[in-house]
Formats: sequence, C-alpha cells, structure tokens
Amino acid sequence: MSTNTTDNTRKVTTRRLIEMKRRGEKISMLTAYDYSSAKIIDEAGVDVILVGDSASNVMAGNITTLPITLDQMIYHGKSVMKATKRALVIVDLPFGTYQGNSKEALASAIRIMKESHAEAVKIEGGAEIRESIERILCAGIPVCGHLGLTPQSINKFGTYNVRAREAEEAEKLIEDARMLDEIGCFAIVIEKVPAELATRVAQSVSIPIIGIGAGGGVDGQVLVMHDMLGINKDFSPRFLRRYANLADIMDKAVKDYIKDVKSGDFPNESESY
Ligand code: KIV
Repeated sequence: MSTNTTDNTRKVTTRRLIEMKRRGEKISMLTAYDYSSAKIIDEAGVDVILVGDSASNVMAGNITTLPITLDQMIYHGKSVMKATKRALVIVDLPFGTYQGNSKEALASAIRIMKESHAEAVKIEGGAEIRESIERILCAGIPVCGHLGLTPQSINKFGTYNVRAREAEEAEKLIEDARMLDEIGCFAIVIEKVPAELATRVAQSVSIPIIGIGAGGGVDGQVLVMHDMLGINKDFSPRFLRRYANLADIMDKAVKDYIKDVKSGDFPNESESY
C-alpha cells in the first residue's frame, strides 16, 4: 500500500482517483473559491479542489449554503480554474438548480462546465435525485455525490448534528451510495456520519468515498480551507483539525500595519520612489 505517491506534475483526473482507491492511496481534497488560494493549494499538491457551496458561508457570510446562486458558483469556479494546473476541480451545484427536474439539473451542470471550465460537478442527495444525476452523466459530465449531512437540507434536518445514527437512515445511505456507484458517479463525499458506517460504505462501493467528519476508514478527506487554516475561528466541530491560526497572524499583521501608518514609519525611504 502506498502512502504518499503525490506526483506534482501529473494531472489528477476522475479516473486517477478511482485508481488511487484501488491502490489504497488516500485522496486529499480542500475547498477553494478564489484564484490566489487555489494557486497555493494546487502547488502544494492537493489532489482535488472543491469549489464548494460553503462559499455561501465563508465568502458571502450567509448562515446557510442555500442563498448562493449558480452565477456566483460559476464566478468562483472560473477563478479557481485559472489557478489550477494539477488538481481535479469540482464545482457544487447550488440549492435550487437541480431539484426541480432533470432537464434543469442538466442545464445547470452544463452552465458550470461551459462557463467555469471545471472538470466535474458535485450534487447533494441520493435516490430522490437519481434521474437528474443520470441525465448529467449522460452528457459526459462527471458527477461526485454527497450523502450524510447534506447542508442544503438543513431546514429539513433542523440541526447540523451527526446523521445516520439510526438503522433506517444508515441503510438508506448505504443503498444510495451503491446506487451512485452503479449509475456512474466517480466519487461520493460523505459528511458527518458515524465512522463505522462510513467505513462500511467505502468497503461496499468501487468509487472513492471522501469523508468530512466520517472517520479514517474512508478513501480520502475533505475540509473547508478557511476552517483548517484557522481563518474562520467561529467553527470548531470535533472533526476539524486546525493546521494554522491564520486569523491571529492576519490580526497581528494588520495591527502592525496600522501602527506603522499612524506613526509615519511606513513607508520609509527604500519603500518610496
Ligand atoms: O460546500 C462544501 O464545502 C462541501 C464540503 C463541506 C464537503 O460540500
């Protein structure tokens, strides 16, 4: 089993992700919504960049992911695509752009692919949106599923607590994952479910399961970049590991700048023309 075969030159494709699962190589995925941060995480070697609808929260300051529009997702996707050379880029289909009917779903996915140049779309849900996913797949657009805690359904769930603790919901999740595998999705994100269940799902499908709050027995992990870098300090779920405290670093830098401007220390002679 290989542990780190990150190849910084070879482009990551949907096919390559499936090969990685077969080889037992874990997949790394992070969100990005803009050119500058996408460039940094692509050059660092992340396998997949998700232009998530979490942009609604971390970029636009909304409480949920529901308000973000298709045009806004395309804008973020386009910015990320301009910066990305190696990682596979997936753009989320936002709330209200695929649930109505499968033709609308296909039209939304086509707009994302044509206008952002992204390489795949992600879509939340299982059996209830099967027809939409199949129609998108028929157009040659790779689809990543998303099961478990699907944030676009927060108003139905009423809470961001762990999903599928009960047998009935757990069984449905397994059936949905098998169905997504059978119809041709290339991966599934599984969010906030018991680790044991996520491991069972990963073992019962041929495509990679990328977990967030789903334990270590899956094929890869995804985190929201702003959370793992400590830019967003208000969000501290148990599953989050913070790799930096950028909010503190930025706070200090901004305070130092203000001090230097006020005191006249900035700019000095060498910083002037
Ligand atoms: O929108 C997003 O960032 C996501 C991840 C949390 C998986 O869907």
